Amino acid sequence: MRKVVAIYPGSFDPITNGHLDIIERGTRLFDELIVAVLVNTEKAPLFSAEERADMIQEILGNRAPKVRIATFEGLLVTFAQRQNARVIVRGIRAVSDYEYELQMALMNRRMQPEIETVFMMPSEAYSYLSSRLVREVFRFGGTIDGLVPPLVIERLRSKLVRL
Ligand code: PNS
Repeated sequence: MRKVVAIYPGSFDPITNGHLDIIERGTRLFDELIVAVLVNTEKAPLFSAEERADMIQEILGNRAPKVRIATFEGLLVTFAQRQNARVIVRGIRAVSDYEYELQMALMNRRMQPEIETVFMMPSEAYSYLSSRLVREVFRFGGTIDGLVPPLVIERLRSKLVRL
């Protein structure tokens, strides 16, 4: 049987425990999971693509042999096709995520009909969690313990002056 390669794309600015939850679930379903960090987000990212990818690599270490970390620019479906990926994984937290995700999934399908988008739900403990909130809470002195790995807190500390 052909092995199923899946892509888990995102900004990951920074990676959260919600993302890690999806990665873990994804590795149970697919033969290979490529965590694909978007280089040029429309929003200016806090961490460079290399910093974001390095953080993920360090956090996963060699605990996740099925996971590969990459950065990509341009269209996701073009990158997915080059990687021979048949599946795009996206995490859905709440109904509010669905509309945007549906638009992306259908646009991606229109461009590349043989790639299927699979939506996965993270643990409900992370259903309110986002990278944007993590950055904001940290910046204004709130605690983000338990929402991101300790390494992310360390990197946020060296990147941001807390207000
Ligand atoms: O973590 P995010 O910011 O929600 O991830 C969004 C991402 C990276 C999946 C999306 O912006 C994307 O795929 N960007 C690449 C450009 C592209 O393919 N755009 C068309 C999407 S239909």
